[in-house]
Amino acid sequence: MTVESSPRRAVSLQTQADGTQLPIVRTVKDLRTQVSNWRSKGDRIALVPTMGALHQGHLSLMRDGRKLCDRVIATIFVNPKQFNRAEDLQSYPSDNLQDIALLTELGVDLLYMPGVEEIYPPDFQTVVSLPALSGCLCGAHRAGHFDGVSTVVSKLLLQALPDVAIFGEKDFQQLQIIRRMVLDLNIPVAIEGGATVREADGLALSSRNRLLSDDERLRAVSLHKVLSAAVTAIEAGEPVVKALEMARQHLSEAGFTSVDYFEVREEQNLTLFDGGHPKSSLRIFAAVWLGSTRIIDNLPVNPTRSPM
Ligand code: PAJ
Repeated sequence: MTVESSPRRAVSLQTQADGTQLPIVRTVKDLRTQVSNWRSKGDRIALVPTMGALHQGHLSLMRDGRKLCDRVIATIFVNPKQFNRAEDLQSYPSDNLQDIALLTELGVDLLYMPGVEEIYPPDFQTVVSLPALSGCLCGAHRAGHFDGVSTVVSKLLLQALPDVAIFGEKDFQQLQIIRRMVLDLNIPVAIEGGATVREADGLALSSRNRLLSDDERLRAVSLHKVLSAAVTAIEAGEPVVKALEMARQHLSEAGFTSVDYFEVREEQNLTLFDGGHPKSSLRIFAAVWLGSTRIIDNLPVNPTRSPM
């Protein structure tokens, strides 16, 4: 891969060995110039925000974008405001050259890779906060995390103003927060959810998986197994409370050092569900630790398949 760029050039081009190229912009101004060029031709535009260290989960969102729109913009920005622990930000994996090669190969139309000062100039002070949706699940264990997410995503959406923005169901709480935020703030962008991509053994792909030791990686697969077993039990008529109790026992047998949450919630507003008649579809959510790495996952659950 060759890299052509100069500080004065608005768009740098990354060229692969086969000649394919990926334009890269780093400022809001250059992003908007490119977007308005496409708009003037009538192209529809999809945005896929990421923090890099790309894997097949991210790439499947880009493919979803390609199906829905004429142009796909990927963003890579490791957002400091959504890390509540300095060590987590420092250890967050990053591999820009590999990311650029993957995006070029996939035929993404543009990469927006702003620096921190482009997103948070000096004196920046706005916080976008959705206290109710952000107060449970991951938000209850990572103070300020979702304020950081909603603030940066509102900025990325307003900077690019795409037709569609795509977020993974892997981070289902994040997806619901972004859906609510876009409604509340009348941001004219359609939010789409992308299916969770998994390894062959069921582990949901995550940039953080590369931080797992070999032994932790072997144990990590149990999370999906325990979640699936709980879904099967609830759908077969087991009371939710009992199914969750069993699941927690299985998690501890599988060697998870601690469990932040393992809960069934309503999809729409994320209210806790422990039986009765849900107002919206249900989902089972889990966050567990393996050593110093936290992994999360979720699955849909449909108890109405059998009487409760
Ligand atoms: P990041 O963790 O890089 O994820 C970027 C997008 O990829 C998110 O929408 C996430 O839900 C999705 N994703 C992650 N793993 C996935 C998988 N296995 N299958 C399908 N999609 C998957 O989420 C963030 O970044 C940030 O919070 C961000 C939205 C970019 C704001 O900073």
